[in-house]
Amino acid sequence: MVDEGVSAESKDNMTSRLTYVGKLILAPMVRVGTLPMRLLALDYGADIVYCEELIDHKLLRSTRVENEVLGTVDFVLDDGTIVFRTCEKEKDTVVLQMGTSDPQRALEVAKLVENDVAGIDVNMGCPKDYSCKGGMGAALLTQPEKVKQILTTLVQGCCKPVTCKMRLLPKMEDTIDLVKIMESTGVSAIGVHGRKKEERPRHDVNCDAIKLISKSVSVPVIANGGSSQIIKTFEDIEEFRNLSGASSVMVAREAQWNPSIFRREGKLPINNVIKDYLKYAVDYDNQFSNSKYCLQQLMVGRSLEPEAKALLKAKTLRELCEVWSMEVYFDSVIAARQKAEDLRKQRVEAVKKRKLDDGSTLYTIEIRYNKKNFSPMTTPKLILGEWCRDNLLDPPVYSMEEHTVHRLYQATVNVDKDYFSSSCWEKSKRAAEHNAAIVCLRIKSVYDGLLEHEHSKKNAREEKRMTEKTNKQTTKTRWEHTECKPGGPFR
Ligand code: FNR
Repeated sequence: MVDEGVSAESKDNMTSRLTYVGKLILAPMVRVGTLPMRLLALDYGADIVYCEELIDHKLLRSTRVENEVLGTVDFVLDDGTIVFRTCEKEKDTVVLQMGTSDPQRALEVAKLVENDVAGIDVNMGCPKDYSCKGGMGAALLTQPEKVKQILTTLVQGCCKPVTCKMRLLPKMEDTIDLVKIMESTGVSAIGVHGRKKEERPRHDVNCDAIKLISKSVSVPVIANGGSSQIIKTFEDIEEFRNLSGASSVMVAREAQWNPSIFRREGKLPINNVIKDYLKYAVDYDNQFSNSKYCLQQLMVGRSLEPEAKALLKAKTLRELCEVWSMEVYFDSVIAARQKAEDLRKQRVEAVKKRKLDDGSTLYTIEIRYNKKNFSPMTTPKLILGEWCRDNLLDPPVYSMEEHTVHRLYQATVNVDKDYFSSSCWEKSKRAAEHNAAIVCLRIKSVYDGLLEHEHSKKNAREEKRMTEKTNKQTTKTRWEHTECKPGGPFR
């Protein structure tokens, strides 16, 4: 990167512990710094890529899931939202930036992700209200004791290098005092955005202040804030590093508009960059709205071009691909993924059966509830409850097993003498019960977990109900002969 000698040494270290000297870095950017953009920046020449800021509370509500088909590690909320997606390709270079105001929460986040990332960063510069009101971001700049606690806890408790990213304080002496406190905690580097909390991108970046900070500490300083004013080309990145006397440079906006800023050979035409971006977005099944947002950033200043207008209208990832004539690529990836998914299902869903002492059978499948596979108004538990009613069975009875150390749950559901359970552990009891319900639905061939099947089954159930209703009016129905308690659960 910036310095050939340092770069060779640092590349060696890439496979071990991340270091922050002589590095070209993709800065953290909310919504922009998702997996496709990070991989693209790495392809073009970035050495380290920061993810978008992720709030500690949200990450702690997520569960780590390995997505075998995509080859990713996902941190997923109960409703299927992916908070953070990463993959092997960036494992040694990705830094997770968190928003936090609490040392213990910060450490919990670090422990959750530390085996899947190369470094941990704490945002201490975000001036936005939502951040500062929660005591995060730039609010930390005026709480040196809190800064010390958070960073010390992280450095001592986490196996990956810890950094923080800050802004300048109103007074330079206070800024220097703060960075010295940061350094004393054992952080591996300090990112400095050379502006104060109130300053906006239109204000000049203060290279002299970054220089003073670099001189005051021996820990590597990462200069940031140079986009558009100083950095417009690859060579300018080195210029910015020289002006600020820093060890490394972190680029945000210039990379947001064209990540090939990291190319030593010069920037690529934006349409080439967009096609490269789309490939990653498709390969890693990046969320449509996020992909569209990132493409809009790549198209900034080009609103009159026909692609920009078509981009605005696009409503699916495939339509985004169509704008750049990449629908064939999209279709081929989706077809290959479907095949891989089918194979995985056949393998994973191998049903394990165990006879229990009372003669009943316990069926176990490794399966997890994915909200996306269900229409918005229904859940596995609802479908199972309905199915039991329709088949004149007692309502499902759920029991729960708790892993006390990790606070994880596994549910078993009892339906019609047998038991059904998923081998997956969940953070919430609700998700665990849905898992068990899905296992039962699969064994009973009520529902196989695919949305279109669910719809057709649901329609079939509706039809069956209507037919039975009609029959009831004309002849005696089955349940009138069965011993169903009056006022019981069935009708
Ligand atoms: C940012 N920035 C930012 N900073 C941070 O620490 N965490 C974040 O999640 C974000 N999010 C974010 C989103 C977007 C769209 C932009 C443009 C910026 C600030 C960013 O990392 C950087 O500090 C500033 O943009 C200054 O650097 P540049 O743009 O001059 O290179």
